[in-house]
Amino acid sequence: MLIFNTISEIQEYLKSQQKTGKTIGFVPTMGALHAGHISLIERSKTENDLTVCSIFVNPTQFNNPEDLKKYPRTLDNDSELLQAAACDVVFAPSAEEMYPSLPQLRMDFGTLETVMEGKFRPGHFNGVGIVVSKLFNIIKSDKAYFGLKDLQQVAVIRQMVKDLSFDLEIIPCPTLREIDGLAMSSRNTRLSVEARALAPQIYKVLNLAQEKLQAGFSTKEIQEVVNQYFSQYPEFEVEYFEVADFDTLEPIEAKNETGKTALCIAAFLGGVRLIDNMVF
Ligand code: PAF
Repeated sequence: MLIFNTISEIQEYLKSQQKTGKTIGFVPTMGALHAGHISLIERSKTENDLTVCSIFVNPTQFNNPEDLKKYPRTLDNDSELLQAAACDVVFAPSAEEMYPSLPQLRMDFGTLETVMEGKFRPGHFNGVGIVVSKLFNIIKSDKAYFGLKDLQQVAVIRQMVKDLSFDLEIIPCPTLREIDGLAMSSRNTRLSVEARALAPQIYKVLNLAQEKLQAGFSTKEIQEVVNQYFSQYPEFEVEYFEVADFDTLEPIEAKNETGKTALCIAAFLGGVRLIDNMVF
């Protein structure tokens, strides 16, 4: 496995590989890798000649400086996991390498970012859009793999790829869960033992909400069910629970009869912000 820290070195290497006709699959990450990330690497390996994983904790997408400071950084362990998964190339640049000066560009994703994560994390998708564009321009892969746990991120990136005619295919991949249903996330390692034991309630409430929606409950009724459910667990501070159209992410009043419905939730638990969703 080759590890590059500079843009010029990885570009030189990847260009030489592309000249020989090799296809490239790309998995962008912020490190603190878990089985969910590795499933993206594995998928890329089955669909491309070369798989590149980037590890970069992107400061511009954190609207909360404390969250950036506490974001787990586990480069040695990440390298071991990637090596074991037979990842071909790792790109781990420094912040100075990625941002010799702060970008002046501002990305606005319209209604896609006025809801949920965009509403509660102002500037987050601008930071994601800029770093992902830079990475796409550096790696120039044929495909890029993203986990659907970050449903809104996938929607924003798809929009960006369409609007800016990036020449690559976005491959959304299913969320991986722990045995008790908790969605895998780098932030899970920050949960205390007590909080970790409670965290699967998020998945349970999503299942309950899905059941009720299928039974014909309205969004308003479901929101009451969810509030009631969490009243048993005061440890959770729910930031939002939304019933949304899967494509537009706009809130809807009841189950979508013509397309897919997304249930999306964000909640703080013991100071750690967790998100999850269910699509049906
Ligand atoms: O999903 C993530 O880990 C990050 O948002 C991404 C796509 C790597 C951009 O920093």
